[in-house]
Amino acid sequence: MELVVTGGRRLSGVVAASGSKNATLAVMAGALLAEGETVIENVPDIGDVGVMAHTLQEIGVSVKRAGPRALRVRSRRVIHSEPPYELCKMLRASSLLLGPLLARNGRARVALPGGDQIGSRPMDLHVKGLRALGADVEVEHGYVAARAKNLVGARVYLDFPSVGATENIMMAACLARGTSIIENAAREPEVVDLANFLALMGAGIRGAGTDVIRIEGGGPLSPVTYGVIPDRIEAATLLAAAIVTYGHVRVTDVIPTHLESTLSKFGELGAEIEVGADYVDVSGRSPVRACDTKTLPYPGFPTDMQPQLGAVLSCAAGVSVITESVFENRFLHVDELKRMGAVMRLEGRSLIVEGVPRLTGARVRATGLRAGAALVLAGLAAEGETVISGVEHIARGHEDLCGKLVALGASVGNRNASMETAAGEDRFS
Ligand code: UD1
Repeated sequence: MELVVTGGRRLSGVVAASGSKNATLAVMAGALLAEGETVIENVPDIGDVGVMAHTLQEIGVSVKRAGPRALRVRSRRVIHSEPPYELCKMLRASSLLLGPLLARNGRARVALPGGDQIGSRPMDLHVKGLRALGADVEVEHGYVAARAKNLVGARVYLDFPSVGATENIMMAACLARGTSIIENAAREPEVVDLANFLALMGAGIRGAGTDVIRIEGGGPLSPVTYGVIPDRIEAATLLAAAIVTYGHVRVTDVIPTHLESTLSKFGELGAEIEVGADYVDVSGRSPVRACDTKTLPYPGFPTDMQPQLGAVLSCAAGVSVITESVFENRFLHVDELKRMGAVMRLEGRSLIVEGVPRLTGARVRATGLRAGAALVLAGLAAEGETVISGVEHIARGHEDLCGKLVALGASVGNRNASMETAAGEDRFS
């Protein structure tokens, strides 16, 4: 499948954000901590959720749709401790099964996420945290294997506020004996959402959203019905479409505070922004202003918006510098944008972007989810037709991006591709 984008249309209209991909994946993993039936609402219809559902099914958990946006996850008393390698390698978030499986079964064996092109994806902080809780953890033969008769609450300092490590340790600590404290914890809204879910299940968690999270362990946890937060990255990507097309877009069903750093950056680009209780309006202005940006852990500018920002700045008036400080090599989209006439060069972890008056449509290839979203934005701004292959990456994490953009007046459509395969490419975020 290829995506064909015909650029030059000013987008306008109202579109709703879907549920958060990253929160859903974490909550699906967290559902393993309670025996019985958990219902997860506001679940986006995306490929990664399908892969996580399949992975849970393979370890003996029943996952069924309960309506268009809800999942019914039934975790039995006995579940397997080793999800299949083939599924783990497809989804970085399968590493989130480590903590819950260890806590439930006393053992877990999860394949290391494959190295990908955006830089190494280590799990040392996950391992450090689980060891602190008393687990024996070995990284061998491409797997992380953890065992513990009893997990015991502990203090864990994370050298970097890793989202996945914070979530894994928080989940394991819920069933550990005693109190755990995670210092330098990730503060992302998806971490808070998982904490809220666990708290509703009966866990004693305080401080989520700050850099110190305190968990009173001991369980047992009970299954609940829980609605995940809106996807702030999807919302920001749709708003960015208004900026690159000098259009006017309202995204509803959002939590505007989750978008603060992004909206403030959009303001620097010259966009007009109106924030409501659960919606954000963005009007793009010509020309887009150049500006410098550094990605940071939340509440800083999100690395998951960095490729899309690069696409917007590629047609800004002036020179911008984008510095990626979260992942070491998240610039795979750059060569593709250059094919569309963007003028950019990498200097270490910084991308220097010299804005051009117009991008031109070209054949390009999405190498990852956010890289793909960046190419779609560039295509909306470009003169002529952009044909994007590797679109399965986009479908992994964006619910009906095509349909949403068309509803805003874009000319975007799927067409059958010739001989593309995404095997071995980065399955990022
Ligand atoms: C999550 C998100 C992803 C987002 C990222 C950062 C999910 C499913 N994915 O990914 O969309 O881009 O947060 O906001 O929620 N690191 C270590 N050791 C570890 C773990 C991480 O050094 O044990 C490093 C990573 O290499 C990276 C940085 O920490 O440089 C951030 O990674 P992390 O926050 O863990 O990202 P993920 O949880 O994988």
